[in-house]
Amino acid sequence: MKEDSRKTKEQLIGELAEMRRQLARQQAVDEKCKQMDDALQKAFDDLEIVTIERTEKLQKANEKLVREINERKRMEKALRQSETRLRRLSSQLFNAQEEERRRLSKELHDQLGHDLVLLKSRLNWIKRKLPALLAEPHKELGETQEYVDQIIENVRRIATELSPSILEDLGLFASLQWLVENFAHQHSIKVSLDMADIDRFFSGETRINLYRVFQETLTNISKHAQAKKVSIVVKKKKDYVIFRVKDDGRGFDLKRLSRKDAARSGMGLTAMKERANLSGGDFDVESTPGNGTVICFKFPVREKGGA
Ligand SMILES: Nc1ncnc2c1ncn2[C@@H]1O[C@H](COP(=O)(O)OP(=O)(O)O)[C@@H](O)[C@H]1O
Ligand SMILES: [Mg+2]
Repeated sequence: MKEDSRKTKEQLIGELAEMRRQLARQQAVDEKCKQMDDALQKAFDDLEIVTIERTEKLQKANEKLVREINERKRMEKALRQSETRLRRLSSQLFNAQEEERRRLSKELHDQLGHDLVLLKSRLNWIKRKLPALLAEPHKELGETQEYVDQIIENVRRIATELSPSILEDLGLFASLQWLVENFAHQHSIKVSLDMADIDRFFSGETRINLYRVFQETLTNISKHAQAKKVSIVVKKKKDYVIFRVKDDGRGFDLKRLSRKDAARSGMGLTAMKERANLSGGDFDVESTPGNGTVICFKFPVREKGGA
């Protein structure tokens, strides 16, 4: 019994020590938990601060974006408005140019043409009065008359080229044919023309724009291409009439032209594109030095009853 009670005491001491150890461990765990709680709380606090900061930043970025979008929209609207203004301006410019050409053409035809015909009849009168024996002056006068005839023909041609009234007189199809024949004859270039009658598809300003683009295409070939052959194909495809003019001349570098020579060269290509766009069509150039040039343009056919 005594031994039992001593054992119990030792046991009790052991148990007590064990309990103390457990308590210490528990305290350590509690301490750790508290530290972790504190750390977690701090992390939460930090996170909240970061979240608030981020949200503020995001809000600011968002506001900036909205401002930028509005600014871009405003600029796009301004751009569209200035494009419309520019288009209207170029249309007015073309109309003024046509008016001026019409006036010049009339002046050339009526005034200069008339004066030349008068000059020719005076030469005729002198020739008639010259004694037949004076062979040399007769020959001179004959040659001068031929020269005057050539000048009269040139003046008529220039006057006709200048005036779009040819369109009213001949119609579009015949006017384009006339341009081609004139071009082939004047520059001794072989031209193949494949074109159906397109008169009914166009009217008003579109007809003038088309005529001028076609005319400048041929003028550019005669001025710059040194071509031997030109092929022209005009075809209706869906709602457009498509023109394709190909020459076998020396071609040119479009990129160089837009960079360097643009200021030096005329407004021909620019005006052609502008005229095609004004009529709701399109204009395109393909050219490589040494490999000829292809000019393609298309004009929309008029809707029933429209211009
Ligand atoms: N068919 C062509 N063949 C070769 N070069 C061409 C042709 N068409 C245009 N060009 C080149 O493009 C340039 C610009 O043409 P354009 O704008 O009509 O002006 P311009 O005829 O007054 O020089 C010309 O100077 C020429 O160098
Ligand atoms: Mg030109």
